[in-house]
Amino acid sequence: MMQAASTMPAQAAAVALDVKNVARHFGGLVALRDVSFTVREGEVMGLIGPNGAGKSTLFEIISGNMPPTKGSVSYFGEDCTNAPAYMRRRSGMCRTFQKVRLFESMTVEQNIRVAASQCLPEGRNAHDEVASILSQFRLEAQAQRRPSELTLADRKRVEIGRAIAGHCRLLMLDESMSGLTHDEANHLITEILALNRTRGITVIVVEHVLSVLAAMVNRLVVLHNATVIADGTPTQVANDPVVIEAYLGTKQKALK
Ligand SMILES: Nc1ncnc2c1ncn2[C@@H]1O[C@H](COP(=O)(O)OP(=O)(O)OP(=O)(O)O)[C@@H](O)[C@H]1O
Ligand SMILES: [Mg+2]
Repeated sequence: MMQAASTMPAQAAAVALDVKNVARHFGGLVALRDVSFTVREGEVMGLIGPNGAGKSTLFEIISGNMPPTKGSVSYFGEDCTNAPAYMRRRSGMCRTFQKVRLFESMTVEQNIRVAASQCLPEGRNAHDEVASILSQFRLEAQAQRRPSELTLADRKRVEIGRAIAGHCRLLMLDESMSGLTHDEANHLITEILALNRTRGITVIVVEHVLSVLAAMVNRLVVLHNATVIADGTPTQVANDPVVIEAYLGTKQKALK
């Protein structure tokens, strides 16, 4: 049986991420409008919304790959709106991409080692970190293979392992469960929740399927038409008339 995210963190937990009034325009297209939310250390938060709602654009902005048109992002109390992506990664802000991106000419172990050696705080050993990640994601038998030889589920594991290698405080996952079978998705969710419990990693998960998210998160933010329309526990969000009207429509049963 899958173990859901740990209990809601105490209100006293540090604010890991504070997104304030973020907007992003692409020419005349408004991809994000006045988006604000906070994530507390230790939370597993789901970010859900239909195609084109702005979820991946938000990850681009938070991780520093793209500047916001307006607004700010703070990470553990420090404004990082203008900090380069590599600085954010070094301070433990980690992410995966909607389309898996691996170094295809390297082995699984090398993919993880590259990240570990770039982000490892002084005094920690890259060899131990790589071994720990291979073990945590049950990838030992695949360590010397190239990504093209792996199943999609294992490729996604390698990507998450590489994303957190070295140092991770916040992990942003962009549709990591998409394309996986029900069982594969459940295994991956268990492993992600283990990262939250054993490494204390705060997690933001983007998914389309609310039933997948409801099983793993203790909080949900709903993006719709470029803005946040709901923010609460999965039960609160599932029963929010604005969400039902705007996003879920006749799919309410998927929540149960
Ligand atoms: N680099 C870009 N240039 C122009 N428009 C973009 C760019 N990136 C995203 N957009 C547009 O911004 C809007 C939000 O896109 P985004 O990819 O963030 O949505 P999403 O919620 O991740 O969707 P999906 O569920 O399909 O992944 C879309 O209309 C998209 O076409
Ligand atoms: Mg997306």
